[in-house]
Amino acid sequence: MTQVHAPDLVERLIGTGPIAAGGAGLVGELCRLAAAYPVTPLERVDVEVAGRRRAVWLKLEGNSPWGSIKGRTAIGLLASVAEVYQPGSRLVESSSGNLGVALAALARACGAQLTVVVDERLPAALRHRMTGLGADLVGADQAPGVSDLQRRLDTIQRLLRAHPDWIWLDQYDNPANPRTHQLWTAPELLTQLPDFQAAFVGVSTGGTLAGMAACLHRAAPATRIVGVDVEGSTAFGGTAGRRILTGIGASRVSTHLLTTTLDAVCLVNSWTAIGCCRAFAEATGYVLGGSSGAVLAACLQEMAADEELVEAVCLCPDLGLTYRDTIYNDQWIERERGFLDRVVPSPQFGPSRNGVTLATWRTW
Ligand SMILES: Cc1ncc(COP(=O)(O)O)c(C=O)c1O
Repeated sequence: MTQVHAPDLVERLIGTGPIAAGGAGLVGELCRLAAAYPVTPLERVDVEVAGRRRAVWLKLEGNSPWGSIKGRTAIGLLASVAEVYQPGSRLVESSSGNLGVALAALARACGAQLTVVVDERLPAALRHRMTGLGADLVGADQAPGVSDLQRRLDTIQRLLRAHPDWIWLDQYDNPANPRTHQLWTAPELLTQLPDFQAAFVGVSTGGTLAGMAACLHRAAPATRIVGVDVEGSTAFGGTAGRRILTGIGASRVSTHLLTTTLDAVCLVNSWTAIGCCRAFAEATGYVLGGSSGAVLAACLQEMAADEELVEAVCLCPDLGLTYRDTIYNDQWIERERGFLDRVVPSPQFGPSRNGVTLATWRTW
């Protein structure tokens, strides 16, 4: 399997002249970490949707050292600040969890200090991983009526005013975010599966989706690029609402996606995504993260509606272990469903016959 050529990737992310692999300092460490990063698995699940057999390919980004696709993003963001970075510099970033874990591991490997600004929705499992890796966590300042994301960003501004030497990685506006996925995630997928009809990709900052689209539009122009978001998110505009999933969605329009052409956007109800995760885990043994459930539900919905769509890739940002206290926990489900204002459709799976899993819809 072709793996990323690490010095080349890091060099292109930094945007300077050729760099040598195995060098000292931050850049050398990033080259080593990128070279050691695994090719994440791409696994095929055959499903019967609306009476037709279909192939769903799961690109399992959770099978990576820091447990999510944000490991790639973190390497890219860190490479982009290599020129201003000094040994012992302090990095600061806002995170809903996964990016903070990846950055904490990277900062530790590179000898950097790291402050992560988080909010109250941070899953406990991710909080423990970040602090265990030596990151300093700062809770977002309280501000009634202001979104969690905006509170985190305002807190970063306050910290930067007090500490002008800190380096902010800024996943929301840093072009290294989409570029990492353009240069790395998407080409890797194409080495595994050169030809597929559609890619379903979840959105938070929009970096993954923008990067995937930039690569696939050129390298596989017939591939449909579908953005997946949750109801209540305003990453694509629209009306803000209560969101219960972490990782997917945002409370502001994605700047990375402003110039990206998409073939479709699917807005998935969070309970549809959660129901999909739980049913899929029971039927197939794949325990996916919540956003992967949203992506899979969107893919199945499109396959049911469009009989020409026979084969698609679902980019799965992380796995379910992080969410064992939430979406895979019956008490949490009971509690949160108290806020549910309507019944929603959700995919149901099984039985499996001859390696094909039946996908139907139920309401819950
Ligand atoms: C857990 C998780 N990680 C990463 C992503 C991709 O995020 P971004 O749009 O910031 O690249 C998502 C989006 O769905 C997600 O849910």
